[in-house]
Amino acid sequence: MIGIYLSGTGNTEHCIKKLLFLLDKTAQAVPMEQKDAGHLLSPHDFIVFAYPIQFSNIPVMVRDFIKIHQNLWKHKKILCVATMGLFSGDGAGCAARLLKKYGAEIVGGSHIRMPDSICDVKLLKRSPEQNLKIIRTADRKIEKCAEGIRNGIYPKDGLFFYDRIAGLLGQRLWYCRKTKNYSDKLKISNVCTGCGLCTQVCPMENLILKNGKAAAGKHCTMCYRCISLCPAKAITLLGCAVIEQCRYDKYVKRR
Ligand SMILES: Cc1cc2nc3c(=O)[nH]c(=O)nc-3n(C[C@H](O)[C@H](O)[C@H](O)COP(=O)(O)O)c2cc1C
Ligand code: SF4
Ligand code: SF4
Repeated sequence: MIGIYLSGTGNTEHCIKKLLFLLDKTAQAVPMEQKDAGHLLSPHDFIVFAYPIQFSNIPVMVRDFIKIHQNLWKHKKILCVATMGLFSGDGAGCAARLLKKYGAEIVGGSHIRMPDSICDVKLLKRSPEQNLKIIRTADRKIEKCAEGIRNGIYPKDGLFFYDRIAGLLGQRLWYCRKTKNYSDKLKISNVCTGCGLCTQVCPMENLILKNGKAAAGKHCTMCYRCISLCPAKAITLLGCAVIEQCRYDKYVKRR
């Protein structure tokens, strides 16, 4: 067993690591941006595939990862895990359908509600205490999910036809353009100090330092990692100002 994941603000990383630990303490969780990720997945028959939901869809980087490694999925048993702030409809189903197209056997799907990761939009912002409560509920769901799997019962979140209709009508139909391509909309304000942190953490290598300031390219997968980490709060994407930097480790440190 092995896990593969994309995580911007740490939610998905926490969920997949917890689930893997409960299922098989020796199983590795590999970040999708790791150069040898495909090579590491190759020998494993069972893969936990995890990602954050964006507009009831999968991030472009996740879609591309599946396509680039299309020869890898045949006959693999895959459990899709989608983390989300509130609702996705068929979040797990989105990757499941694509993986199935390339020959994977989808054994299950799990939707895990976690704190919202969009740092520069007020909607869905909760207090740290509320976020901690959400994380505790998520942890219980992961524990239940692992127990079920150990007994041969897999969750089926987001895999049914009515989930697909809910995802489509709930958001995807109206926001499909947002996740069609990589974004070129990242904004970096002049409060940037040129510390270079964002250039080191971006899973798409979409940021560089130019004349002592960060500059963004056109290949942002909207993960919000740089936005949530920038010490100067200089980066925004969907909104125009950083309201609160969202990070899983920030909430749990308060425990
Ligand atoms: C661009 C963007 C779009 C999002 N769209 C949704 C959405 O449609 N539904 C939802 O419930 N959460 C949505 N979220 C919230 C994230 O899916 C959620 O916070 C997730 O757990 C983040 O995981 P991460 O920390 O591993 O990146 C969105 C987040 C981002 C950055
Ligand atoms: S992390 Fe922020 S301050 Fe540092 S280089 Fe990037 S944008 Fe500038
Ligand atoms: S530029 Fe920032 S938000 Fe975009 S993919 Fe890179 S780290 Fe994520």
